[in-house]
Parts: sequence; C-alpha cells; structure tokens
Amino acid sequence: MRGYHPYTGSHRHGGTGVRELSGARSGTEAVRLAEDHSTHNYHPLPVVLAYGEGAWVTDMEGKRYLDCLAAYSALNFGHRHPRILAAARAQLDRLTLTGRAFYHDQFGPFCQELAELAGMDMVLPMNSGAEAVESALKVARKWGYQVKRVPDGRASVVVAENNFHGRTISLVSFSTDPVTHDEYGPYTPGFRIVPYGDASALTRAIDDTTVAVLLEPVQGEAGVIVPPPHYLPAAREICTRRNVLLIADEIQSGLGRAGATFACERFGVVPDLYVLGKALGGGVLPVSAVVGRRDVLGVLRPGEHGSTFGGNPLACAVGRAVVRLLRTGEYQARARSLGQRLRARLDELVGQGVTEVRSLGLWAGIDVHPALATGREVCERLAAKGVLAKDTHGSTVRLAPPLVIEADELDWAVDRLAAVLRELRG
Ligand SMILES: Cc1ncc(COP(=O)(O)O)c(C=O)c1O
Repeated sequence: MRGYHPYTGSHRHGGTGVRELSGARSGTEAVRLAEDHSTHNYHPLPVVLAYGEGAWVTDMEGKRYLDCLAAYSALNFGHRHPRILAAARAQLDRLTLTGRAFYHDQFGPFCQELAELAGMDMVLPMNSGAEAVESALKVARKWGYQVKRVPDGRASVVVAENNFHGRTISLVSFSTDPVTHDEYGPYTPGFRIVPYGDASALTRAIDDTTVAVLLEPVQGEAGVIVPPPHYLPAAREICTRRNVLLIADEIQSGLGRAGATFACERFGVVPDLYVLGKALGGGVLPVSAVVGRRDVLGVLRPGEHGSTFGGNPLACAVGRAVVRLLRTGEYQARARSLGQRLRARLDELVGQGVTEVRSLGLWAGIDVHPALATGREVCERLAAKGVLAKDTHGSTVRLAPPLVIEADELDWAVDRLAAVLRELRG
C-alpha cells in the first residue's frame, strides 16, 4: 500500500517547497487569512492542503490524507494524473486562449471525441457545471419553441425534489433545499417539481408546454440517492412518448464514477442531452459541456449563446486527455469492482452506528445514526485519522474517492470509518 501512515516522513509532499510556495507560514495562518478575507459560503474542515498526488493529499504541516471526496468527483482520475498534466503542459507551451471568434486546433477534435464517447453528434462546451445546466435549459427552451412549437413564453421543465444542479438564480429557483433556495427571489418561472423516483408523478407533471425533464441519474448532493431500477427507463419512455427532452445531469455521476461512462448506462437509458462537468476538467481546470444529438443542439445559431472561456484550447486539450483515459474503459471497470468491495465493507457497518448505505459504482452515501453523531463530526474525526470525506444533509457521509485508489487503500479508509464509529459508540 502506498503511504498509509499519515505522519511518516517518506510520505510527505515529495520534497516540494510547500511552505515557500504557499504564501502563508502555517496552516493556522492560512485558515485565518481565508476566514478574514473570503466570503463564508463554505464551511471547510480545518485542513489546509498543499500537495496532491493520485488519491493522496498533504497538508502544510506534512500530514497525509487519503482523499475520499475527490472534489465532488472532479478528481475521478486522481490528483495530477500524469497523462492529464502532460496534455496540459504541452498545451500551455502552445496556445491557451483564443475566444470563440476564431477556430483553434484543439476545439474540433475535442468536440468530435467527446461526442463520440457519448454516442452523440454535437458538443456545447462551457466551463462550470451550473453554466452547462443553464445552457442545456436554454437549448431545451429554444428546441421547444422551434421544434415542438410550444407557444412563445410558455415552455415548462420538470425537475425532481432534492435536486442539485448548481447555484445560479434559475437553478436555485427550483431547488427544494431552503439553504440553497431561500432569499434569492424573485425566482425564475417555468419549472415544475415532482418527487424523485416516482414515474407516475413525472407523467402527471408533463403537459403540452413541457420541453424537458431534467434529472440527476443519481442524486449526489442529496446523499447519493439511487433511484429505483425502473425509474429512469420509465422517464425515458414518458419523454419519448410526449416529445419531451430527457436531460441527464451527469456532472457528478458521469465520466466513470458510477461504474460506467455515464450513470444512465447502468439503467439502460440514453438521454437526449448529457450535461457534463467536474471530471471533464481532469482535476486541472473547470471544463463542462452539453452533449447531444444534432436535431437538439443544432437549434443554436451564431450569437444566441456563448462563453469567453468555453472551449478554450487548454480546456479542450485537457478534456481530450480525459476522453482518452475514459476510452480505455479502465476507470469505469475500477469504479465497478472497487465499488462492489466498498459496498460490501460498508454494509458490515449497518447496525454499528450506520443506519443505511446507498451506492452506485465507487460512490456511497452512508447515513450515520443521528443519536451517535452528525455527518460533520464523523468527517472531522475521519480527517484526524487521515481520511477526507464530506458530510451532506446532517447525518450523511459521502465517499467518492478518486478512481485510481487501490483496493487496500479503500479498505484502510473503511477501517478508519469503522474505528470512528467505535469511538463514538464508546
Ligand atoms: C449534479 C450536479 N449538477 C451541477 C453541479 C454544479 O456544478 P458547478 O459547481 O461546477 O457549477 C453540481 C455540483 O456539485 C452537481 O453535483
């Protein structure tokens, strides 16, 4: 096993001059600067990271941690994957930004290769995940007016309860989480919210104005909620029957995490539009995209949508490296087999302080008994033992390690979780 003793000198940050580069003298000072000078819109664990490699990160004091969050699946290929870094470095030495006023030599190949990976025709490149979801919604409305012939201004989109699609005004308008939603009104109209996993409710919500159903194939931020097996196939069937676009937000679930290139594949479903982000940027920079068929994405005309940085040369070079990694199928297979191992180990903890485990691929939501501890407390104790994970919704701990993690490292992380639960149970 590579480096599971958090404090051993040989496993420190590979000799890099962390302190010299950091701009803060200590972890404590770095936290103070952040707290004093940044908005408090996150509540990070008190860990100041300065170095990362593969599944491991090192803090300013040289303590090592196994990263079991992987930047919410943005680090599916681990920290600083050599192939991704090589592509980024090569591109840094050639051309980094053009704007879309000109073509550049990475753009066409990136779009073609990503479309091919998805079995689709076209790509609309963006930067952040939220931006890509917004873009998919704009495309769906345009398609609704031009192709489905919905009366102007009447288009509706059906979304699910407990969704998380990002933080823009329109996306928080249809969030059912008060923390995400409240006090950002007036809200964008045109969205209908139905319970997740309930195909009949979906059917009832659709009418002649409906242009799209927007779903996460697995709800990540809600706590890794895996829908019943019939749900996505039923949603596909309803959308086809009612001439409605099925938009799969695979920003967190896609690109290997769920044990397939797309989580939709695990349910035998092909959506009309994929929304991708996070891991598409290889853990290097924000890269997102909407991927779909020509008859849908083809509705956009010059000037109708865009982004200064979307599809820039550096992003495309990195995105192409990501597509090349995914084409091997290796990461999807790792997520599937390691995921089974993780699930078996986590199931042993049910009744030992854990009330429920949900998972798909290498991605798990673990509900801790509320009387025992909050998810946050568990994550703090895990961090002290050298494992980084993230709580969500009070009592859930989410595990989404990089897909390059080794089986014995994964076992080690679960052993640490078991030890935390034992401590808490006294
Ligand atoms: C399913 C899903 N959609 C959209 C987003 C938003 O992505 P970003 O934070 O890059 O805007 C996220 C982020 O967690 C997500 O999980």
